[in-house]
Amino acid sequence: MRDTGLRRSHCCSLASPRGDNSQSSKLANPYLAERKARQPSVQIDALDLWQEDRPEFDGDKAAAKMTFFGLGEMNNETQSAWDQIATITQRFTDADEYVFSVPMWNCGVDYKLKQYIDIITQPGLLFGFDPEAGYSGLLENKVARVFYTAGVYAPGASAKYGSDYQSSYLSWWLEFIGISEIRDVRFQPSLLTGDPLGDQKAAIERSVELVSQYRLLPRRPLGLRGSFTKSGPAVARPMTEPRPRIAGSIA
Ligand SMILES: Cc1cc2nc3c(=O)[nH]c(=O)nc-3n(C[C@H](O)[C@H](O)[C@H](O)COP(=O)(O)O)c2cc1C
Repeated sequence: MRDTGLRRSHCCSLASPRGDNSQSSKLANPYLAERKARQPSVQIDALDLWQEDRPEFDGDKAAAKMTFFGLGEMNNETQSAWDQIATITQRFTDADEYVFSVPMWNCGVDYKLKQYIDIITQPGLLFGFDPEAGYSGLLENKVARVFYTAGVYAPGASAKYGSDYQSSYLSWWLEFIGISEIRDVRFQPSLLTGDPLGDQKAAIERSVELVSQYRLLPRRPLGLRGSFTKSGPAVARPMTEPRPRIAGSIA
C-alpha cells in the first residue's frame, strides 16, 4: 500500500471489559498492527469504552436533540449539553476509518458501545432528516472494520443458541450514519466448534488479510449538511431558522 499521508484510524478496540482475555480484541489488534505496519503514518486513536468517562445521555441532552425535530427550544442548559455531545462526536467524525471490536452481549452489543452510539448519533452531526426523504447519513468517505465475537451464538446454528442482533444492529447503524464500506470478521463458534483454537487462528488470519482490502478513499471535506460547521464546538441555529434536512416531527 502506498503511504499517501496521515489517515486517522479511530479504534473502539476495547469494547470488551475483558482486557487481555478479550476475544474480539484478539482479532482487532492484529488488524491494527498490520494496518500500522503497512502504513506507518496512520494515526490510531484508541477509544477505550470501558476506561474513558462518558456522560449520561440525560434529560438536557435528550431535550437538545428533540429541538431539532421541532420539540421545545434550546436554552442555556440544553445548549451546554449539546456542546458536550458535539465535542465527543467530533472525535469520532475526525477519523477516516473505524475499527470496532464487538463482543455479543445478550444477542446484541454491550451497553457501553450502545451508550456511545446513543451519544454521538445526532441530527446535523451524523444524520440528517427530511420529512419526505427520511433519514440520511452525513459521513462521507469513511470505512468500518468490525470484529465480532460470541460465546454460544454462531451463524447458521439453531435458534436455541440465540439470534444475531449484534451485527444486524451495528451494520444498520454504520449504514445509517453514512458508512458504505463495511467489512467484518467473526469468531463466534466457541461452544459449538470442535476446534475453537483452529477457528480462532483462522479468524485472526482473516483479520490481518482484511488490511489488504483497505481502500484509501479520496479525502474530501466532511461536508456536514445539518446545522453545524465542521470546526469548533457546534452551535445550534436559533430555533426560528429553518433546518432543511432535519425538519418535521419524528412522532
Ligand atoms: C454479559 C455477557 C453477555 C453475553 N451474551 C452472550 C450472548 O447472548 N450470546 C453469546 O453467544 N455469547 C454471549 N456472551 C459471550 C461473549 O460474547 C463471548 O465470550 C465473546 O467472546 C466475548 O468477547 P470479548 O472476549 O471480546 O469480550 C456474553 C458474555 C457476557 C460477558
